[in-house]
Amino acid sequence: MLGKIFTQVLLLILVFSIVLPQNQSGSIFWGQNCARCHNVRGFNEFNDAQWDVIVRHMRIIGNLPGDQARAILKFLQEANNPPEEGNAVEESVKDYVNKRVESFELFPSSKFFVSGYGVSQFVSVKEEVPSFETSFTPLFHLAIGNNTYFMVEPEFELEDTKVAIELEIAQVSYFVNDYLTLVAGKFILPFNVYSERLHPTWIDKLPRRPLIYTNLLDHALSDVGIQLRGGASLPFSEGSKINYAFYIVNGPRLEMGELMIGENFTDVDTNKTIGGRLGILPVWNLEIGASYMSGKASDEEGTRKEDFSMIGFDGEYHFGGLEFRGEFIRLERKFGGWKETKNGFYVQASYRLSGEGFLGNLEPVIRYGSVSHEEEKITQLAFGIDYWLAPSSAIKLAYESNKNIPNRLTLQLVIGL
Ligand code: HEC
Repeated sequence: MLGKIFTQVLLLILVFSIVLPQNQSGSIFWGQNCARCHNVRGFNEFNDAQWDVIVRHMRIIGNLPGDQARAILKFLQEANNPPEEGNAVEESVKDYVNKRVESFELFPSSKFFVSGYGVSQFVSVKEEVPSFETSFTPLFHLAIGNNTYFMVEPEFELEDTKVAIELEIAQVSYFVNDYLTLVAGKFILPFNVYSERLHPTWIDKLPRRPLIYTNLLDHALSDVGIQLRGGASLPFSEGSKINYAFYIVNGPRLEMGELMIGENFTDVDTNKTIGGRLGILPVWNLEIGASYMSGKASDEEGTRKEDFSMIGFDGEYHFGGLEFRGEFIRLERKFGGWKETKNGFYVQASYRLSGEGFLGNLEPVIRYGSVSHEEEKITQLAFGIDYWLAPSSAIKLAYESNKNIPNRLTLQLVIGL
């Protein structure tokens, strides 16, 4: 196994030093950033305009400094299929069109692009009827001019005899400068990393969310408001960075005594919720983050108004095909003399086997998590195996061995665009 890891690291170094020397910084930034959250994507999967849209999206999610994002885009466009000789549009025609388009004050270029993913799965939970489930999540991206990016993500899910539609994301982002991006609308909250970076099914290595997002919180977090975010390089080492995200949002409400964190569309009171996350990468393959969020939550009648706060820590480390991740959340609710605290965490390890063909597409995953609340403690040991059909498509088989909630077996197929 050590030998395999060693070969992989050597291969990576070789790729960077031999195959791609002509655009060093772009290729290095790409190598450091573009396989951290999900599988590396093929150069030819997208054309130049699509890469432009995608890199804006990734600049926001990854808090990449603007200069690095531009270098990555240039590299991706160069690595992309070069236009075939002989069918190039005549230069004079190109010049004419470019001049006409550039003469507009507004929207000198706009690029539209659709991505997304579909999921089909078979779930068997102890003492429940085993069943097939399905959902589809398209992503509509629109890049306008050089500094604006708009994204909408609805989710369609079959629920009983109906289709449930949720608006996961509808956000507009404006790149103010290389280190600051303004985001407004309905967005995924940058609290820890699972919600924002890992929740799409083609990225999550197990078919189901970690325990803290099923039994401490109900799901990945999103809300409506505004956000300031960005990142900058640090001088410690090549690839060393700091990133930040601060937000003010409508915040949760109380429904039948439950605190509905991260699923509010409209507000029922004047109190807003504030929060943020700071992340640091001392080296390119290690990130540590700390998050905070606090506010007040009321019910619709305005009879109860609680204070709540959440702190979180997250960490990730990559080494060849090995990946380690973990998150911790502590949620505190207070009302008069009443107080409730919930703590939870998960740690996860995965290893993408090396080699070509069948074996090289396999990735075993293991995740341990716990959520504790007064006397009750739930624990979960989940293990699974993924077979990657493409960078964003996989078949996953996983078993959760749980304490105080039923065990679960899932076979999932996800196809990403
Ligand atoms: C911090 C985590 C993170 C980093 C770093 C990151 N990605 Fe992503 N990427 C995501 C997430 C999350 C999605 C899916 C978003 C969704 O479905 O809502 C995504 C989606 C994509 C997609 C699908 C199209 C789209 O825009 O949704 C492509 C292609 C992609 N990333 C390529 C890249 C490249 C190239 C880089 C390097 C510049 C990169 N990613 C860096 C998290 C990341």
